[in-house]
Amino acid sequence: MIFALETSCDETAAALVTHDGEIRANVVASQADLHAQFGGVVPEIASRRHLELVLPVVRQALSDAGATLDDVDLVAVTRGPGLIGALLVGVSAAKALAWTRRLPLAPVDHLDGHVASLYLEPDSLEPPFLCLLASGGHTMLLDVRARGSFGVAGRTVDDAVGEAFDKGARLLGLGYPGGAELDRLARDGDPEAFSFPVAKLPGLDFSFSGVKTSLLYAVKKLQPGELERRRADLAASYQRALVRALVERTDAAAQLLGVERVGVVGGVAANSELRASLPWARAAPLSLCTDNAAMIASAARYVEPLPYPRYLGLDAYASAA
Ligand code: KG4
Ligand code: ZN
Repeated sequence: MIFALETSCDETAAALVTHDGEIRANVVASQADLHAQFGGVVPEIASRRHLELVLPVVRQALSDAGATLDDVDLVAVTRGPGLIGALLVGVSAAKALAWTRRLPLAPVDHLDGHVASLYLEPDSLEPPFLCLLASGGHTMLLDVRARGSFGVAGRTVDDAVGEAFDKGARLLGLGYPGGAELDRLARDGDPEAFSFPVAKLPGLDFSFSGVKTSLLYAVKKLQPGELERRRADLAASYQRALVRALVERTDAAAQLLGVERVGVVGGVAANSELRASLPWARAAPLSLCTDNAAMIASAARYVEPLPYPRYLGLDAYASAA
């Protein structure tokens, strides 16, 4: 089995996955409550919390799988992109685990991990397909021709769509991270109540930095007390604008690339309206949309592992090369 760790942001995650892509354990310890009081992830606090959580999470994953390290033949870890201090906790722990057993170590890119959430059983997707990767840190359209590689067809030129969800949620007085809460609130609102235009760039790129400003103006225009009454309408209209932009570009990219299959991954792939708006697409299972280690184990199957002890000098990276 493959043992994987993921600590790129504020989730401490460990998983055991077979080489056939069957999940035996998938443990995610979220630090969201810890960061909520600051309205966002505080990198130094995240690193320290990873350090406290990493061993309990490793033990929990082994126990959930009914396995020991004897059953593991490959260790995998997210190497980047992400918060550098947070990543280093996972990388160091993975090195130590691999080193004690003289196992090889597979360094995995976080984005490859999200795409590889579609390669897990029982519902794996076979390339070629177009992949919409929509998360808190990234918004991309990927041309996936084979497992383990992709070309970038489009990307956001400013904010990620998850960031737009979180900033919008904040303007509406929801907690952090607010994407899922905004999704819930939007169900009680009228998506046509307000109009929030999303900038449309030529080609397949996205821009989400302007739309939150139009939400801000709409909120400011309301009389005191009215915000509470219109919150669900604002949430529904704002979500409609973000989802429309994603769906339009995904459709355009699928036509341009001539692909029949579309995959949707990343935290925002959990959004109920996005899932409903792309009924022909294959969205990752809900438990595999937000950051987890099962997707990292899955991606590790298509990475050349570093043999013992070459990985001891392995470094993490904060942003893509
Ligand atoms: O993939 P992820 O866990 O972390 C990154 O790699 O960024 O994505 C987290 C993002 C956050 O912005 C969160 O608000 C958003 O995914 N998110 C959602 C939903 N669930 C999570 N956004 C919209 N609707 C949801 N249901
Ligand atoms: Zn992610």
